[in-house]
Parts: sequence; C-alpha cells; structure tokens
Amino acid sequence: MPPDTTGTLFLPPQGSTISGSVDSLFHFILVTSTIFFLIIVLGALYFVLRYRKRANTAVQLTSGPTHSTKLELLWTIIPTILVFIVFLWGFKTYLRMHVVPGDALKIKVTAQKWFWSFDYTKSGAKSLNELVVPVGKPVELTMSSTDVIHSFYVPGFRIKMDVLPNRYTVTWFEATNAGVYDLFCAEYCGTGHSEMIGKVRAVGEREFSQWLEASSSSGEGMPLADYGAKLYSSKACVTCHTIDGTVKVGPSFKGLFGTQQVMVDGKRVLVDENYLRESILNPMAKVVAGFQPVMPSFQGLLNDKDIDALVEYIKSLQE
Ligand code: CUA
Repeated sequence: MPPDTTGTLFLPPQGSTISGSVDSLFHFILVTSTIFFLIIVLGALYFVLRYRKRANTAVQLTSGPTHSTKLELLWTIIPTILVFIVFLWGFKTYLRMHVVPGDALKIKVTAQKWFWSFDYTKSGAKSLNELVVPVGKPVELTMSSTDVIHSFYVPGFRIKMDVLPNRYTVTWFEATNAGVYDLFCAEYCGTGHSEMIGKVRAVGEREFSQWLEASSSSGEGMPLADYGAKLYSSKACVTCHTIDGTVKVGPSFKGLFGTQQVMVDGKRVLVDENYLRESILNPMAKVVAGFQPVMPSFQGLLNDKDIDALVEYIKSLQE
C-alpha cells in the first residue's frame, strides 16, 4: 500500500468517504479563525503602540466619535455570512454522516467496561476489540452499552458517537483504503478507560469473507491451550491481565495457577480450575486483595469449551 499523504499536522490520514468533507470544513474554520485572530491581535497591538501616552506631550482631548455606520455594518455582515457558511456546510456534512445507505452491512456494537464486542448480525461472526470491515462498502453500526456511557471514536474515519446504556445509537462509515485504524473510547468510563482501545481493520472483499468464515469457527483441530491463547487476545483478557508478571487492572496470569491468593475479605483461595471458571463467569464472587472489583462477567460471551481453553492456557503459564 502506498503511504497515505492525506494526513496533516492536525488530522490523521483520511480513511472513509466522509473524511474529505469533515476535513475541508475543519480547515475552513481553522483558516478563517486564524485570519481574524491575526487581524484583531495585530490591530490591537498597532493601536496600543501608535496611540500610547508619550512622555513630554500634553494630553490632547478630542471629541469622542459616536459611531461609524459603515464600520458597524461591515463587522456585522461579514461574520454573519461566515457563520452561515459554517452552519450550512456543517449541516450538510452532518446529514451525510447520519443518513445510513440502505445497502449497509449491519454490525451490532456492544461497549462494556472495558472492551468492545462486535456481532455480525447476518453471518453470526463475533469479534472483540477488532472490527473487521470490507473496503468500499457502507457499514452500519448499531451500538449500546451494558454499563456506563462510552464513545465509539475512529479518528481515521472522522466518526465519533456516544454508546449508551438502555438506548441504541447508530453511526455508519465506508472505508476507502485498506489498513488498520485506531478505535478509541472517547468518554471517560472508569479505571480501564485508557485501555479501551481497539482496531478497525479494513480489508478487501475476499479477505473479509475469509475472515468472517474463520471467526465463526471455534478452534477445531487446535490444542486446547493454543485455542485459549487465541481467546486470551480475541476476547480481550489481554486488556487487564498480562502473561509476563506485570500487574495491570487485574492479576497477571503468569505462574498464577496452583498458587494461594489472599482475597479482599482476607480468605486464602487456591487458584484451581474451579476458581478460574468462577472468576470468569462471576468475577465479583472472589476478588483478589489489592484489586478493584471491576471485571465484567463473561457469562454468555464464552461457552464451556472457551472456558476450558482459557483455563488450560492459564495452566500452561506456570513457571
Ligand atoms: Cu469506555 Cu471510556
């Protein structure tokens, strides 16, 4: 892929059909604001210097000017025209961003502390933290949250939409270039907010259908621990749990299995298969001392085989 040169000092490279309109409006506002800033500040400086009180000169009193109709009309009409340009231009772009094309690919987005899950409603494929979309096809996202307010933000696509509990919000985009784009949560949502980062991968039509097929499969013909390793990243465990001993939002998985851990209530618990299973499905039941009770339940997000695989994977991380 040739390097994208559409990025500027202020904006990342353009990745969607709407990017061009958003950027030109942004640049129009930036340039006009800069021009007016210079006129006003330089003008004020000029008057300050030109009419300053000098030593040895007697103060000359003149009759105060009342007004200047010409000047007042000028500074009313010019800003009014500019504001209307910005309004009409912005409104037109806003409508384009909000009217979803009828042939859009439909994806359900669920935000949860602190990850994104994507359900491809037609094919049944699912993914966590990685939204894979075909290039050149509109994609409609219907979004909701299971807990607090999050915000779905893809700077490369110039889209940002709040994701709310108890209400659906909709946004759409059409990727124009294949590539990987950052996905951020742009609404402060608690301890793991800054870790609520995903990727949008825009791929060709063919790669997309291959991906759809692969992500609907469930690790057949794969050693259980390897499948667990795959789930560890695809189901976003990696956001809070490391495998190198570093402590993040949750305990590290390194050497965890078979150890005794002290819980917040002071009880000691042996980390075995049953403890891991319980902690995946009902994380609040036994919280390790020194950690916040913030892990979401994976009930419904993982089936029995997935849990077996994750347990097997954590076992394999013993030193
Ligand atoms: Cu989710 Cu910030």
